[in-house]
Amino acid sequence: MPTIQLNGEDVEVRPGKSLLLAVLQAGEFIPHLCFHPALSSPVSCRLCVAELGEGDNAVLMPTCNQPVIGGMVVTTDSHEVVKARADVIEFLLKSHPLDCPTCPKAGECELQDYADAHGSQSSDNEWTPRSTSNERLGSRLAYYPSRCIACSRCSRFSEEVSGDGDLTLAHRGEETVISLSPGHFLGDGLVGNTVDICPVGALVDPDSQLDPPPWMLTGINSICPGCSSGCNIRVDVFEGSIRRLKPRANLEVNQYWMCDEGRFGWREIQRHERLVEPCSGSGDDEKAVSWDLALDAARQGLSQAGEGGDEIAVVLNGNLTNEETYLLLRLARDEWHAGLICMDDGKYGQERVFKSGFTIRADRTPNRRGVREIAKGLGIDLGSTEMLGTRLRNGELKRAFVVASDNLVEQQAAGNYVFDDLDFLVVGATSPSSLTKAAHLVLPMLTAFEKDGTLTNHAGRVQRIRVCTPGPSTVPEDWQTLGRLATNDQFDFKQLDEILVAMSREIGGLFSGLSFERLQQLEQDDRAVGQAYGAGWSDRLQQWGFLHVDDHRK
Ligand code: FES
Repeated sequence: MPTIQLNGEDVEVRPGKSLLLAVLQAGEFIPHLCFHPALSSPVSCRLCVAELGEGDNAVLMPTCNQPVIGGMVVTTDSHEVVKARADVIEFLLKSHPLDCPTCPKAGECELQDYADAHGSQSSDNEWTPRSTSNERLGSRLAYYPSRCIACSRCSRFSEEVSGDGDLTLAHRGEETVISLSPGHFLGDGLVGNTVDICPVGALVDPDSQLDPPPWMLTGINSICPGCSSGCNIRVDVFEGSIRRLKPRANLEVNQYWMCDEGRFGWREIQRHERLVEPCSGSGDDEKAVSWDLALDAARQGLSQAGEGGDEIAVVLNGNLTNEETYLLLRLARDEWHAGLICMDDGKYGQERVFKSGFTIRADRTPNRRGVREIAKGLGIDLGSTEMLGTRLRNGELKRAFVVASDNLVEQQAAGNYVFDDLDFLVVGATSPSSLTKAAHLVLPMLTAFEKDGTLTNHAGRVQRIRVCTPGPSTVPEDWQTLGRLATNDQFDFKQLDEILVAMSREIGGLFSGLSFERLQQLEQDDRAVGQAYGAGWSDRLQQWGFLHVDDHRK
């Protein structure tokens, strides 16, 4: 690694094309606005200046596009540097509206932070705010030109990351604004990321609310359940309810981004009616029962087949966590001796690969790879759902334990799977559907945002999800429900983590040596993994205690 002299000290820095990035990684902060580590450097804001060289040869230069050269002498705290930064900020504030109290970026605005930390206390310039009208650039994006500092992060994102070129800079100088490229319209895809990387409140989510403000939110690190990519996210919650999702940087998984489908999908999930208590009987006989009664009935009904009973089917899907999958497959194999264990085909969409390589995967379930790996590790051959349909039609199945999914409900509605003739059908589900109506016993379950555990993405990376919002108070955690279905004490797990440890011993493979503690350690050691970049959480506000961010990396 090259050594540079930084503010009089010799420090080792990473080699690369950006001195700014090297200095930031070395722990010294240089304010910057147009720079983003995933985008090209237009060197337009000139806020990132530092003094390069010594004595009379020292020159003020932007650092974002300076290659790192060993032996460089870099000064970031001289009088000249401080003044140059203050001048840039003063120039930007000269025409910036004073609408911080009503701007949704307030509290996480980079310009606001820099003005406070690096700006002048007074100015001789006349304040001449731009008068421009606000625009909707698409259903997911509103533009406030008066706040725009023309940093071009959004148009470079559009060109270099999403590759659609939808956003462009129009006009010149102080009149520069963002606009849609001629003939383009902003569809769904990666639009939400432009709000994250906008350093001010020029681009906002039209549905975002100021109540509560960002500093009242609690951020919880988790994984997006929207597809098999396993994008690293931070879920921002207030008083137990989700307010927004932001991507966390993970260069090996999702770079700095997440897709709109994943970002806004939680709103749809939260609109669903929920199952809050177990039900037994079907049709007019359906009635709520206690968990004890329901689990007794399930244990009895599913264990009756005994050894070699191939009349039982177990249908699971890629929405279950690794730990839940392990318990359910062990039950299917050891307790119920299921003759058919299959994974629902699940939800598939269109695979979309963007210019930067960021991919929305066709498999819209987060843990199909995990289910396959665990089945393989337990020596279970997963059957196909075609087999399920055939055996149901032939009347070869008498009982089934089914974890509901949208796909299964659709297949049932299409007549591909007819469960009506079964003697005993147990359905685990989050919401009522025609499938739960057909069941003799319904066990309520939790959504991905309401549970702890791990998911295995398409590439075999095991990642941690965490409870972000509480599920219905009457619904236990799914691993506890599944654990209580065992008739013996084989699942005497007191903590969820113990299941992952048991899996690492029994299955090995992708799960070798894993525990929650180990996963956290891996995340901390992985320099490719970071916090939400450009989402603007202010370090100083955190230090002062105004931002309540649970940083699970600490
Ligand atoms: Fe370097 Fe803008 S961050 S010029």
